[in-house]
Amino acid sequence: MKFFIDTANLNQIREINDLGILDGVTTNPSLMAKEGIKGKEAVFQHYRTICETVNGDVSAEVISTDFEGIIREAQELAKIHPRIVVKVPMIKDGVKAIHWLTEHGIPTNCTLVFSAAQAILAAKAGARYVSPFIGRIDDINWDGLELIEQIAHIYTVQGFETQILAASIRSSLHIVKCAEAGADVCTCPYDTLIGLLKHPLTDIGLAKFLEDAKKWQ
Ligand code: E4P
Repeated sequence: MKFFIDTANLNQIREINDLGILDGVTTNPSLMAKEGIKGKEAVFQHYRTICETVNGDVSAEVISTDFEGIIREAQELAKIHPRIVVKVPMIKDGVKAIHWLTEHGIPTNCTLVFSAAQAILAAKAGARYVSPFIGRIDDINWDGLELIEQIAHIYTVQGFETQILAASIRSSLHIVKCAEAGADVCTCPYDTLIGLLKHPLTDIGLAKFLEDAKKWQ
């Protein structure tokens, strides 16, 4: 399973990238707004910097909701850097745009996916990635991980090539469960990636080893 980081924060991206475990980045309009970036030029430069930092796919989301607008925006975004993947929402014009963009060689990430039915449509349209939002499903007391399992099963049975990009991750346990369920990619907030490191027995064990090492130094 690939690790993407779900942030537009350059310090977080650089820190995780330095660990050598990062395969890509996802952003969305809310994450960009959080960084205080304003204006098209600044936004495009920010995407360019992320692409130059990480050797992997970088999702940049369109904000148009009509077919022509999505295509126009996607073409502009794709020109920023070859690693850009255009994030398109799961709406009717979005599905049509994903199909068009795929035919024209622009890779897409179909976002805001909450059901297996939507995931089938995204794959049929030719999206490179489908993004089921598991945390937001959990938030309404449904089971986000069950959806990952269901999509993984359908894609295997049907031979779809679209990669499952588990999104809206809330915990390190989510990441482990996504790996078990067969997600191709997990896009994780910084804290959940760092959380993978942590175990109290590691801390206790290391403290004891370092203490004992003093005896023979
Ligand atoms: C990623 O592609 C999504 O935009 C993101 O994971 C959404 O996460 P949230 O539900 O925490 O906003």
